[in-house]
Amino acid sequence: MARPKRPASGAVRYVLDGELRTVEGGDPTRTVLQHLREDLGRTGTKEGCAEGDCGACTVVLAELDGNRVRYRSINSCIQFLPTLDGRALFTVESLKDRATGALHPVQQALADGHGSQCGFCTPGFVMSLFALYKTRAAPDRAAITDALAGNLCRCTGYNNIVKAVQQAAATLSQPAGATK
Ligand code: FES
Ligand code: FES
Repeated sequence: MARPKRPASGAVRYVLDGELRTVEGGDPTRTVLQHLREDLGRTGTKEGCAEGDCGACTVVLAELDGNRVRYRSINSCIQFLPTLDGRALFTVESLKDRATGALHPVQQALADGHGSQCGFCTPGFVMSLFALYKTRAAPDRAAITDALAGNLCRCTGYNNIVKAVQQAAATLSQPAGATK
């Protein structure tokens, strides 16, 4: 898989919401979560356990894989900032339609299906489902539970979340590589 070479300066370059960002001379052990919350003020991505176990900090990375774009969810609390280089990053703030303000279909599905209570885990669930939305048409229950395997919720009991996504599965179908 070919990725753009790191610039000689060691700067990290990545795309966020369609804009190229460059981070110069940062601490290589700074996490993506720290960068988002502390440097960019994007506090929609939550810190729960800070050790890769709860999924509250889930974001999505996109990268070229041959001729297609591959989307995958990651735990931003254990992902170091330099690993963003040459990739596109999506956070929960990326999903709302900028023109209309409409929620993304996966957000709407959770809202309609009462898939959120206190809401702390919700951005992480949304991002795992966004990765699923980008990679799999009409996901079945097994695919949905698989996609959510790394996300913990202490309020909903998961049933409403999975049911909401199942009910909306038809609208959660989109060819990989599309932008919304
Ligand atoms: Fe729990 Fe990142 S904060 S997995
Ligand atoms: Fe409260 Fe999931 S809605 S932790």
